[in-house]
Amino acid sequence: MRVVVPRETAPGERRVALVPESVKKLTKAGMRIAVQAGAGLESQVTDREYEEAGAEVLQGASAVFQGAEVLLRVQPPGPNPELGLHEVDALPAGAVLVAPLLPTRNLELIRRLADRGVTAISMDAIPRISRAQAMDVLSSMASIAGYKAVLKAAEALPRYFPMLMTAAGTVLPAKVFVIGAGVAGLQAIATARRLGAVVEATDTRPAVRTEIESLGAKFVGIEAGEAAQDAGGYAKELSQDFYRRQAELIGQRCAAADVVITTALIGGVTAPRLITAEMVGRMRSGSVIVDLAAPGGGNCELTRPGETTEHQGVKILAPLNLPSELAFHGSLLYSRNLLAFLLAFWKEGRFHLDLEDEILRQATITHEGRVLHEATRKALEGAGR
Ligand code: NAI
Repeated sequence: MRVVVPRETAPGERRVALVPESVKKLTKAGMRIAVQAGAGLESQVTDREYEEAGAEVLQGASAVFQGAEVLLRVQPPGPNPELGLHEVDALPAGAVLVAPLLPTRNLELIRRLADRGVTAISMDAIPRISRAQAMDVLSSMASIAGYKAVLKAAEALPRYFPMLMTAAGTVLPAKVFVIGAGVAGLQAIATARRLGAVVEATDTRPAVRTEIESLGAKFVGIEAGEAAQDAGGYAKELSQDFYRRQAELIGQRCAAADVVITTALIGGVTAPRLITAEMVGRMRSGSVIVDLAAPGGGNCELTRPGETTEHQGVKILAPLNLPSELAFHGSLLYSRNLLAFLLAFWKEGRFHLDLEDEILRQATITHEGRVLHEATRKALEGAGR
């Protein structure tokens, strides 16, 4: 079975889908791995290291796409200037694509994959059950984003993070407020604490209170008084009354903070608007907001996804791909997630697409020309495609 890894083509993407450590384990299991020359360079992996691990290194994208049985990517496929066509159209019909596809946000791509007869498996749609923990790319990448968000904030802040006692007197620690204590938020709390900041955090799910406190931060929040999470552990949309009361708290805590890191998502996808322009206006000049919900539109009214804006001296950072900025470890962890996934369904020398299995049933978006993923199918119907 031929598993291929092309060079990523999305602007700014520096990661690679497989690193040599995983190539070794996959070839040992009996897979043939082919990697496009130069695919790992921006993650500090040379072609030679791939060859030593047992991969074939191929020159050019067309050599990689031809005869691909399983294609592994970090970003969804798109137009490839080297191929002169969309990557989906370069895939053999019946090939298996494994990548984070964000299917409900990429309807045109999903339609194209179905029409091409590709079996598309979306790593971000893998259910968060304990058996699939080692495959959880959402967690491994969110953790990097939370860590990097704090470093970005520290870089942009004209203040120290830690408390310092100097000969010139004492410097007070920075105050960091984290909104949304999921995987990214908890890592942001831990990183800000390690840098010496005083941290407080809020979430709609009361279950995270103890996690926040165990990291040395203070929980601030209001009782939801209604079920705040769904069966999958994701935050649910709450009543307007709740959001009104929460806005008061968020406005106050933002005004007292030097740094706000915001990560809130509903159902893992939709970014609620939690910080208004008026709240930003009440923050001290020089303060920094890092909006990690920017790919979903952002938690702050002034966020411009992918850009840094400034409002009355407050900087609003809205990075879209922080894991790429930590390319070495971003690639290593993503590769380990893929390794766990591939080995789980590798049986008798082939990838076994068992649609009875809960993981594959939820993560397989297209197969044999059909869209299997229910939420995507509904979104396509809604969009008239
Ligand atoms: P996420 O990225 O979907 O959302 C981030 C955070 O924002 C969540 O904690 C959510 O409760 C919070 N949030 C939503 N609306 C908010 C609001 N108005 N104000 C403040 N906070 C708000 O979350 P993530 O990090 O993907 O984790 C979601 C769930 O999945 C968690 O329950 C986590 O425990 C669970 N999980 C389970 C794993 C497993 O393998 N079993 C692995 C990782 C996470």
